[in-house]
Amino acid sequence: MPGRWATAAFTAMNPAAQPIGVFDSGIGGLTVVRQMQRLFPNEQIIYLGDTARVPYGTKSAETVTRFACEDAAFLVAQGVKALVVACNSASASALPELGERFSLPTFGVILPGAIAANEATRNGHIGVIGTQATIRSGAYERLVGELNRELRVTSQACPLLVPLVEEGWLDHEVTDAVLREYLAPMLAGGVDTLVLGCTHYPLLKESIARVAGPEVALVDSAETCAAFVQQELQWHNLLATEGEGGVRIHVTDEIERVRDMAERFLGGPSHAVQQVELGAL
Ligand code: DGL
Repeated sequence: MPGRWATAAFTAMNPAAQPIGVFDSGIGGLTVVRQMQRLFPNEQIIYLGDTARVPYGTKSAETVTRFACEDAAFLVAQGVKALVVACNSASASALPELGERFSLPTFGVILPGAIAANEATRNGHIGVIGTQATIRSGAYERLVGELNRELRVTSQACPLLVPLVEEGWLDHEVTDAVLREYLAPMLAGGVDTLVLGCTHYPLLKESIARVAGPEVALVDSAETCAAFVQQELQWHNLLATEGEGGVRIHVTDEIERVRDMAERFLGGPSHAVQQVELGAL
């Protein structure tokens, strides 16, 4: 039986006992970790939040890809068995490059969200909200189109939502007003399914449901990503089914700034957080 963090000898014999690496531009990716812990509590998770360089969602695809490769290199050096790109903006831009550079199973948030939206829609019209980087990439449209060419996707960048969530305005009239403004065109256009294509949006689920109305199915990309990772790890015989799980959080900027936020995203008490420096590639 492995200890809290399995020994090198044990993990060499049993790759499933190695930790999973999860990264995001900041702390928002803990929404994915929260769902992963709910679904597979035996996993040890090493989390990296690039808080020194957040946000990624306002940056170019080239910059986000470079940052994502540096994040991944840090986690790979910790001996992780798989990588989860919890950030929608990084998943949208960097997955092909990550796949070329690192030879371990690597999962993003976008494909699982696209699959869930494809299954949820009844009228074939899907809405996607995300950062500017995610929406500009067209990644959701591309993947939904590959799954079913009949489907129509309407996308909307919502750059004000990340700061509102970080401010803790989760149930707030200003947030509702901003959501109404962003969602009005796609709701008028008749979307019946809405993909929450950003790490931060699961925390706004109630407000989004209130504004979108009961007819619109919400796809939580944190939930769908965790379920997808579970399936894939099982398939690769890499899912830990015994031993004590847990999460070790690393950030690239000072720790004090993120402690409260980490609790909000993780939905539980603060865990050990460590500040680290990333090497340039
Ligand atoms: N993690 C980012 C995402 O899911 C949101 C925050 C940022 O812009 O970096 O797209």
